Amino acid sequence: MASLTIRKLDDAVRDRLRLRAAQNGRSVEDEVRVILREASQQRPLVLATAVPQGSPSAADHSMPSGAPDLARVTLIIGGGIAAYKALDLIRRLKERHIHVRCVLTRAAQQFVTPLAASALSHERVYTDLFDPESEFDAGHIRLARDCELIVVAPATADIMAKMAHGHADDLATAILLAADRPILLAPAMNPLMWNNAATRRNVVQLERDGIVTIGPNAGEMAEAGEAGVGRMAEPLEIAVAADRLLRPPQPRPLAGKRVLITAGPTHEPIDPVRYIANRSSGKQGFAIAAAAQAAGADVTLISGPVDLGDPAGVRVKHVESAREMLQQVEAALPADIAIFAAAVADWRVANEGEQKLKKTSAGMPPLQLVENPDILATISKLGDHRPKLVIGFAAETEHLIDNAKAKFARKGCDWIVANDVSPATGVMGGDRNTVHLLTRKGTEISVDSWPVMTKEQVATELVARIVQNFTGTQAEQPS
Ligand SMILES: Cc1cc2nc3c(=O)[nH]c(=O)nc-3n(C[C@H](O)[C@H](O)[C@H](O)COP(=O)(O)O)c2cc1C
Repeated sequence: MASLTIRKLDDAVRDRLRLRAAQNGRSVEDEVRVILREASQQRPLVLATAVPQGSPSAADHSMPSGAPDLARVTLIIGGGIAAYKALDLIRRLKERHIHVRCVLTRAAQQFVTPLAASALSHERVYTDLFDPESEFDAGHIRLARDCELIVVAPATADIMAKMAHGHADDLATAILLAADRPILLAPAMNPLMWNNAATRRNVVQLERDGIVTIGPNAGEMAEAGEAGVGRMAEPLEIAVAADRLLRPPQPRPLAGKRVLITAGPTHEPIDPVRYIANRSSGKQGFAIAAAAQAAGADVTLISGPVDLGDPAGVRVKHVESAREMLQQVEAALPADIAIFAAAVADWRVANEGEQKLKKTSAGMPPLQLVENPDILATISKLGDHRPKLVIGFAAETEHLIDNAKAKFARKGCDWIVANDVSPATGVMGGDRNTVHLLTRKGTEISVDSWPVMTKEQVATELVARIVQNFTGTQAEQPS
């Protein structure tokens, strides 16, 4: 590579050049190379617009090389076993044209090398609070400000504890404390650490502080034979959540509204190891929760056992049985809107075995079934605490519209989303849905049949109808 020598630079240009180099974490010589490369590719030069660090618009002008319109993420990699997945996350963010600058904690460097993060991000990697190479300013302030979003992945129990208590004893935590940008955490830890009372308290505190979390998901742990909630969300999920946070603020028509959503199946125990279940995947309810959250609502999602990551920015309560689901629904009231998308088991076993039922010569043990509480009817018929809009789902395998209409009378809800779940439709567990929205004015029921859509599209459309209802006329109350 040819060497560069620049003499007799105008003082102002020299100062801007040095500032830009410092902000981008490069030597001045490297910065000039980048600028020349940009010029040769006829990309806009940013040098002319550089402004002093610390001014309110500094972040807008100190963009990284060659792409003034790129969104910038400071990615803090914590010292957990999932740190290797952060390398894939760098790739996923860059695929989305997001500029990534990595910070590795001391512990993270036991799991991945700064060299790997640097090679993937094409940027210098930061590891030390006291960095002799940072000429111009305190590096932690720069890394906190020269981005539109800070992502912590994996967010260790330790980082979360420090954040919750305002510690700043290393570069990562100093950046997080100095940040006035949105922060997205992807926690990852052993389920015992995740469920520890101290971590629970810290998570609640961080949520109150406006920090967004994604995951952790349920699954196998790195420790042999261990499973539970604690796996870091997949890099693609984190990248999608980051992308969403980076988009310009969308209209928030449901801001200030509390939305309660149920999703997934319920598991009704037969004995400690067996249960009655159904094929619901929870995808439709989760998609509605994400769409309502995107519309600005304060969303509580109460989910039966599913294999899905928690939607970002949504309060999620995980339950097993219909009775637990009803308990959590009641605890989540008051709400403005309730959407009951869960496939709640109609019956449970009356004589649930305390021990595993054994085969005996007397033959099969008789299973007596009793009716489960009807969550939709219970909430629809509430007095003072009834949400203004109660929406039920009718999953039917025959006589879809007739059965859905009959449900109105039995349940007392305001709207019903009816869908055909017979096996040939592939709706249960699949990604698409064909629904009919039933609404009523007094005794008159209207049916609006939607074309086949992805479950995300159904969710978006349903939320749009809810917005229309709330910003226009109110939903009809049960007569
Ligand atoms: C092999 C190994 C794996 C670890 N995995 C995790 C983990 O997944 N999550 C976590 O919170 N801590 C984990 N730890 C503990 C952290 O490394 C430790 O709390 C460290 O102080 C975190 O530092 P940091 O938060 O500054 O990155 C692990 C430790 C070891 C030795």
